[in-house]
Amino acid sequence: MSPTEVAPVLGVSGLSKSFGDHEVLRSIDLTVDRGKVLVLIGPSGSGKTTVLRSLNGLEQPDGGTVTVGGDFVLDFSGKVGAKQLAALRDRSAMVFQHYNLFPHKTVLENVTEGPLVVQRRPRAEVEAEALALLDRVGLADKRGAYPFELSGGQQQRVGIVRALALRPQLLLFDEPTSSLDPELVGDVLTVMKELADDGWTMVVVTHELTFARQVADEVLFLDGGVIVERGAPQQLFTAPREERTKQFLNRLLFPF
Ligand SMILES: Nc1ncnc2c1ncn2[C@@H]1O[C@H](COP(=O)(O)OP(=O)(O)OP(=O)(O)O)[C@@H](O)[C@H]1O
Ligand SMILES: [Mg+2]
Repeated sequence: MSPTEVAPVLGVSGLSKSFGDHEVLRSIDLTVDRGKVLVLIGPSGSGKTTVLRSLNGLEQPDGGTVTVGGDFVLDFSGKVGAKQLAALRDRSAMVFQHYNLFPHKTVLENVTEGPLVVQRRPRAEVEAEALALLDRVGLADKRGAYPFELSGGQQQRVGIVRALALRPQLLLFDEPTSSLDPELVGDVLTVMKELADDGWTMVVVTHELTFARQVADEVLFLDGGVIVERGAPQQLFTAPREERTKQFLNRLLFPF
């Protein structure tokens, strides 16, 4: 890399993970440059969630390296401690399929928990930032509500704000709209599009092909724990090179 080149926000090299003798990730390599959106697609069980969990310190891979922001490097071929996994989590923030909000905490408490308790930032600053973020996604008036009082789409927007409040370098989304009723999907995708437009670096697992076409800079097709094909959305969706990619896209577009 020449001195003028900017390091990618995310670099993954040789990422491997087995559960027992089941090899779930087989040497995954990928990079995501600053402000770019990578979309991961693939059949159920192909390893998409395991990739994201590995990037968020929720899963410990058996081998490979993860580099965030060019200077933070975790080498999973050696011993990686809880402190380092927490440091990884500090740099990447995850939005979950099932929101994973604390049911007994209000919206504002859900959003401020990480910055206050984990990052130990000052309450006034954290709350002001949280309220501004909630306002941005149209939820300022829900600050005192509990998750059960919100629709799925509202809960997921809180999930996104909770991730943003951590001031991460990288946002990870695991099928963020797949638990939502169809009429609520649009609001969440709109927020995600705005984040992409704002220049956030994002890795998104999704089956929303229209969204992927509009927002992704690169799409990666995962099957059986390997990257079968990668490319620009236009190319991969309209002219996939690999037979397995074609079959997967056909099943997604014409499920019956
Ligand atoms: N904690 C675990 N213990 C054992 N096996 C696991 C564990 N987590 C994941 N697996 C297995 O690893 C494989 C990949 O799982 P993963 O959740 O990453 O797939 P996915 O691509 O996200 O699938 P989906 O589209 O259904 O969400 C699956 O076969 C799954 O059963
Ligand atoms: Mg999954």
